[in-house]
Amino acid sequence: MLQNYQKFVDSELDFIKKHTIPYTLIVRNANSDIIGYLEAITTRDEKDNAVIKDLKVWREKNQQAFPSQFKVTLKGTRSWFKAQLIGKNDRILFFVKDLDGNRVGHVGLYRFDYKKHTCEIDNVIRGSKSSPGIMTMALTTLINWTKNELKTDNIFLTVFSDNPKAIKLYRRCGFIDHKLIPLEKKVSGKVINWEENYKIDPKKAERSYLKMILS
Ligand SMILES: CC(C)(COP(=O)(O)OP(=O)(O)OC[C@H]1O[C@@H](n2cnc3c(N)ncnc32)[C@H](O)[C@@H]1OP(=O)(O)O)[C@@H](O)C(=O)NCCC(=O)NCCS
Repeated sequence: MLQNYQKFVDSELDFIKKHTIPYTLIVRNANSDIIGYLEAITTRDEKDNAVIKDLKVWREKNQQAFPSQFKVTLKGTRSWFKAQLIGKNDRILFFVKDLDGNRVGHVGLYRFDYKKHTCEIDNVIRGSKSSPGIMTMALTTLINWTKNELKTDNIFLTVFSDNPKAIKLYRRCGFIDHKLIPLEKKVSGKVINWEENYKIDPKKAERSYLKMILS
């Protein structure tokens, strides 16, 4: 049992995000062939306009998969990068890269429960169409690394129940359904937020989250 799990996790993620040497994990397919790799997004990437642009375009294209929908801009993405990604102790995002080093998508971790030794899968997006199956193997690689390196006891995730592509991916990676959470749509100007509201009958909710847990 680790004495100070929070210190252990935060120092590891901080080291990876701020170190100058890229942190990579090899991604293999079911035959153990290398098909790509995960590369941690770090402070260096903030100055890379192509990185910020990919993050912006991919977020913009996949608005319906996220709890808030708003006008995505390069400026907003850059400040999200600084404050919400690098600036959050318990958050890390990896680019999924193919063998030529092209960015194919990203997968990440967030919201560690330091008492229970758990965390959540965060920000799973395929950005380009190439390499079918690479997202499954990338997420499997991230799960194995999280269990082995960050010593988590379990991993959760939340997905909209009307997102069958993502649910299929998560089931392929070993997640099972845990519970449905009814959502309420809140609109403020041009911003839409989907908020959990347990008072709504799940059968009547306009949208719901499906919470999944690693089996
Ligand atoms: C969710 C998302 C990342 C899944 O991406 P994906 O391309 O389906 O994932 P994979 O790369 O693992 O490809 C799987 C597909 O390739 C096929 N495939 C081919 N060879 C494969 C292999 N060796 N291993 C696994 N799948 C393989 C699968 O059958 C599957 O196709 P299907 O869904 O038609 O059955 C993608 O749909 C996405 O970015 N969606 C928008 C954002 C989003 O919803 N994110 C989740 C937020 S919670």
